[in-house]
Amino acid sequence: MSDKIRVVLTGCGGMSGRWLEVATKMSDVDIVGLVDIREEAAKKRAQDFSIDNPFIGTDLSAALDKLKPDVVFDCTVPEAHTPVTLEALSHGCHVMGEKPMSDSMENARKALKAAQEADKIYAVIQNRRYDPRIRRLRNYLEIGDIGSITTLNCDFYIGAHFGGFRDHMEHVLLLDMAIHTFDAARFITGADPVSVYCKEWNPSGSWYDHDASAVAIFEMTGGVVYTYRGSWCAEGLNTTWECDWRVIGENGSVTWDGAGNFKAQKVEETGGFFSKWKDVELPQHDPGEKVGGHEGLIKEFIKCVKTGGVPETVCTDNIKSLAMVFGAIESAQKGKPVDIQV
Ligand SMILES: NC(=O)c1ccc[n+]([C@@H]2O[C@H](COP(=O)([O-])OP(=O)(O)OC[C@H]3O[C@@H](n4cnc5c(N)ncnc54)[C@H](O)[C@@H]3O)[C@@H](O)[C@H]2O)c1
Repeated sequence: MSDKIRVVLTGCGGMSGRWLEVATKMSDVDIVGLVDIREEAAKKRAQDFSIDNPFIGTDLSAALDKLKPDVVFDCTVPEAHTPVTLEALSHGCHVMGEKPMSDSMENARKALKAAQEADKIYAVIQNRRYDPRIRRLRNYLEIGDIGSITTLNCDFYIGAHFGGFRDHMEHVLLLDMAIHTFDAARFITGADPVSVYCKEWNPSGSWYDHDASAVAIFEMTGGVVYTYRGSWCAEGLNTTWECDWRVIGENGSVTWDGAGNFKAQKVEETGGFFSKWKDVELPQHDPGEKVGGHEGLIKEFIKCVKTGGVPETVCTDNIKSLAMVFGAIESAQKGKPVDIQV
C-alpha cells in the first residue's frame, strides 16, 4: 500500500463537510472520488473543498470498480449504511461510516460478518467519545479511587427545534441521539449491556410527530445499573448535549455536567450515620490522540489502515452501543424488559 490512502467518500450531505474538512488536510489521504445519489451534492463538495479533479458519480459500485480505492468513507443516511458498507467491503475496501452503524441489528450483524470475512476494518464514528473531558472522567474511574462502579445515571434534556426530517421520525431521540449517550455510558463504565426496560413517549406540547422522550434502565455487565432520562422537547433548563452524569462507586461519587465541571467526593472515614467525605479534584489526563471528535477518529482509522491496528470504534465493539438503542426500542414497544442481544 502506498503512503497515500486513496479514499472515496459517499453521501455528500451536511455531515460530509466535517469529514472533508479533516481529510483534505491530511497529507496521507487522497480523496479520489465523491459519490452521492444527488450528483450536484458531490459536485458541490468537490468545489467547497477545492478537491483536485475527483471522480464524481452517483453509483458507488462503478466508482469503486474504476478507482480501486483503499477506503470508503460513508456519510450517507442510516438506511444506506449497510448496503454501502457491503459494497465497499466486496471491493476490498476498509470502511469508516457515520453513526449509527446501521438501521437494524440484522443489518449491523450482516455488515460485521462481511467485514470479518473480508478481513477489512469497518469502524463507526462516535465523535463524542473523542473528547478530553469524558476521557478525564474515564481515566479517574479507571484509577479506582471511588472503587468499582455500581451505578450510572444520566439526564439529556434539550429542546431542539430541528424543523426537518427529525420532526417526523419514529424513535427520534433513541435512534438519532441516544446512540451517542449509550456509547458514552459504555465508555464511562467500561461495561456492556445485558438488559433494558424502556418507556418512550411523546409529551403533550411536543413538536415532534413521534416519541421524543424516553426513560430507560439498563443492567450492564458487572452488575452496574445505568439509568437514562432524555427528551428532545424539554423547554428550559437544558443539559449539555453530552448529558448530565452521576457515577456512583463503592467508595464515592462523581458528577459531570458534560462540559468542564466535575465534582467528586470519596469516603475518608466511616462509622457514623453519614461517612466523612473528602472532596476530590479529578486528576488532569492527557488523552493523547483520542480527541477532536471526527478528526481524532478519522486519523486513528487511517493510521490503523496503514499499520494494521484496530480502531477503538471498530464494528465489533460499536455494535454493542447500537444494541442498546434497539434493545430500548424493543422494550418500549413490548412494554417490558428485554435482554440485549449483540
Ligand atoms: N456524528 C455526528 O455527530 C452526526 C451529526 C449529524 C448527523 N450524523 C450522521 O451522519 C449521517 C448523514 O447525515 P447528514 O446530516 O449529513 O444527512 P444529509 O441528508 O444532509 O446527507 C446525506 C447524504 O447522503 C446521500 N445519500 C443517501 N443515500 C445514499 C446512497 N445510497 N448512496 C450515496 N449517497 C446517498 C443524500 O443524497 C445526502 O446528500 C447520518 O447517519 C447521521 O446520523 C452524525
